Amino acid sequence: MKELIIKDLHVSVEGKEILKGVNLEVHPGESIALLGPNGHGKSTLLATIMGNPKYEVTSGSILLDGEDVLAMSVDERARKGIFLGMQYPSEVPGVVNADFLKAAMNSRREKPIKLFEFYRELESASKRMDINMDMAQRFLNEGFSGGEKKRNEILQMLLLKPQFAMLDEIDSGLDVDALVRVADAINYQKENSDIAYLTISHYARLYSLIKPTRVAIMINGKIAVTGGVELIDRVDKEGYEWIKYELGIEVAKQDASMNTVSIGECATRSAIEKQAKAK
Ligand SMILES: Nc1ncnc2c1ncn2[C@@H]1O[C@H](COP(=O)(O)OP(=O)(O)O)[C@@H](O)[C@H]1O
Ligand SMILES: [Mg+2]
Repeated sequence: MKELIIKDLHVSVEGKEILKGVNLEVHPGESIALLGPNGHGKSTLLATIMGNPKYEVTSGSILLDGEDVLAMSVDERARKGIFLGMQYPSEVPGVVNADFLKAAMNSRREKPIKLFEFYRELESASKRMDINMDMAQRFLNEGFSGGEKKRNEILQMLLLKPQFAMLDEIDSGLDVDALVRVADAINYQKENSDIAYLTISHYARLYSLIKPTRVAIMINGKIAVTGGVELIDRVDKEGYEWIKYELGIEVAKQDASMNTVSIGECATRSAIEKQAKAK
């Protein structure tokens, strides 16, 4: 990958505009941490880059090495090396995990992979992810625990060797050991290929392990702030309220149904309480 360039991207879901002019560039070797309160459009951005048909691009562009990504089918995007590790991986009864993985690998190769070679790679990636080989014979994600689903997403990434990987809250549902394993795999892939990452997480812990090169904060469907990794610490300690005071950007309230406790929010709440007291 040379570069992914997103310009003034507007996206609607079910007639409601969610992304309101996103500008973002990802260059080779970069690992971008995408932060932002819940419900502000982070997952929408990733799903749009991957080509989920639910997300309607109303204007703007996404170029991968100068090629128009929005004109490509999901399948073409995957073949160009774009990968999405999903926040909520779907269960696909009837599709055997190993068959799915093999088909996905073959779609990016000229000649189908030899069976022994496939199993060798599968075994090595499964070991790295601490996934039992039996899981390869089960239906894709069916009955997998939250953590198993997330580890299986990373297993796919290891086998597909994408050039641009987007990981959406890949650390949610993971215990500490699994988190370290996932982070190790992300780093392993970075060291062994020219992959670029765009990762969403609410936890400074993941970022301390995978060491992003740059941070982008999404507020109200736009990238409101970009900067260095020190922004992760700041959000961890202070939440997102400072964006309102320093940049004058009103941070729209999140959808109550999407409330989860995470970094940023607790700090935000305490900042709000402090402010209310001061009044
Ligand atoms: N498939 C969908 N159907 C309806 N609304 C959606 C869908 N995906 C996202 N949204 C809405 O878009 C907004 C942004 O959601 P999302 O991109 O998931 O935010 P984030 O990942 O930042 O938490 C929310 O209000 C959410 O309800
Ligand atoms: Mg999300």
